[in-house]
Amino acid sequence: MADQLIIFDTTLRDGEQSPGASMTRDEKLRIARQLERLKVDVIEAGFAASSNGDFEAVQLIANTIKDSTICSLSRANDRDISRAAEALKGANRARIHTFIATSPLHMEKKLRMTPDQVFEQAKQSVRFARNLVEDVEFSPEDGYRSDMDFLCRVLEAVISEGATTINVPDTVGYAIPELYGNFIKTLRERIPNSDKAIWSVHCHNDLGMAVANSLAGVKIGGARQVECTINGLGERAGNCSLEEVVMAVKTRKDYFNLELGVDTRHILAASRMVSQTTGFVVQPNKAVVGANAFAHASGIHQDGVLKARDTYEIMRAEDVGWTANKIVLGKLSGRNAFKQRLQELGVQMESEAEINAAFSRFKELADRKSEIFDEDILALVSEESVINDKEQYGFVSLSQHSETGERPQAEIVFTVDGKEVKGSSDGNGPVDASLKAIEVHVKSGAEMVLYSVNAISGSTESQGEVTVRLQNSGRVVNGVGADPDIVVASAKAYLSALNKLHGKGDRVAAQG
Ligand code: KIV
Ligand code: ZN
Repeated sequence: MADQLIIFDTTLRDGEQSPGASMTRDEKLRIARQLERLKVDVIEAGFAASSNGDFEAVQLIANTIKDSTICSLSRANDRDISRAAEALKGANRARIHTFIATSPLHMEKKLRMTPDQVFEQAKQSVRFARNLVEDVEFSPEDGYRSDMDFLCRVLEAVISEGATTINVPDTVGYAIPELYGNFIKTLRERIPNSDKAIWSVHCHNDLGMAVANSLAGVKIGGARQVECTINGLGERAGNCSLEEVVMAVKTRKDYFNLELGVDTRHILAASRMVSQTTGFVVQPNKAVVGANAFAHASGIHQDGVLKARDTYEIMRAEDVGWTANKIVLGKLSGRNAFKQRLQELGVQMESEAEINAAFSRFKELADRKSEIFDEDILALVSEESVINDKEQYGFVSLSQHSETGERPQAEIVFTVDGKEVKGSSDGNGPVDASLKAIEVHVKSGAEMVLYSVNAISGSTESQGEVTVRLQNSGRVVNGVGADPDIVVASAKAYLSALNKLHGKGDRVAAQG
């Protein structure tokens, strides 16, 4: 019988570490629900000890998601591990993932610890974690650049202390597939108790080889868990992409001979949800989930595919969730149809009042836009933060004037803690004028590090989805807004970013 390959998704932890990809608790829960629908085996929900916000997100996900194992990252110390265990209390299956750096560079320069101190701390942390949960993963951070003898000593010791999964990170994306595969193989051959743990790969994409390295770790090294993120989200060049690794193993079953639990039909929805939530746009030629991944533009290819699909297609588009763009709802759709569609899209609203509010926004949109696609509905709920009166800033209305040869003017009405304020300004363009009109009141002093507009469903009739990334005092946040009017979408995105900027505490970095 073929072995099972465990898919460990770390979009909500390592993916979220990417500057600007930070998510609110509710956004994380929505993505966790989609990951559960996708049937990933393990969801790394966050790093509970890093901030109160992360603790609450891990706790909420642990209390809600029942089919996947829920994991929290934790540095190798008792406080972090206790905090992780506390956050995971409500989980059906809980995992603590503890880590400490083992490369000479990280031990000396970052931790300022001797190898013996690191060895002791790793052992003691795994022992402590095993007293709290059954399922303990250990990662030697920067493992791939660690000394082989030292790494063998540490990993043998933590397995003896009860670590159930050993994950070998290529933290800086330095590995080459064959070398990384052999590295895992050597570890497994040299460590006498290696068969007592499941081996896992965790590759970063700095040289564009995260997926190739992970697959080599599986094929050559015998790893049976892959750590990955939706769309390859992650710091710098990102992590191993879930959709690519999963589809490689599924499409080339003849080569890998491994079973997967993932229901690949939910991949595209997960990709869109992560992209819409974080504002990290998926490049059109991205494998599996890019807009062109299954589009055959050249005449020769089109002809071939029409005659026999497998002339140019190695995967079926529908197996990863592509369907012909269908109009899901319209002006005449009722509340029940809307509610059901939300459920199908994995959006769970907490109360009937919330559904009613979302439904009335849907009706407003349907009045202005005859065809409503899934993407429109997702955008509508992801801009919750600027229409939700619990938030500090809320969008009310906007008018702007622009004419060739004239300097554009904008006037905006928005709420600050429930009270309406009006701001006006001119600017280089209507968007610039509108955002300056907000700043007249807010005076956030934030620097805008990214502004991008994307047509949600392709044409000029579609909604414009705007992402605004703001940076202030070392914090980077993303705001997303959608509207058929891109100036309004921009104002919503800006207010949403301000809500995040003013709403979350500091956090400890995982690799800090
Ligand atoms: O890349 C890395 O080393 C990590 C660890 C914390 C597992 O993300
Ligand atoms: Zn990582």
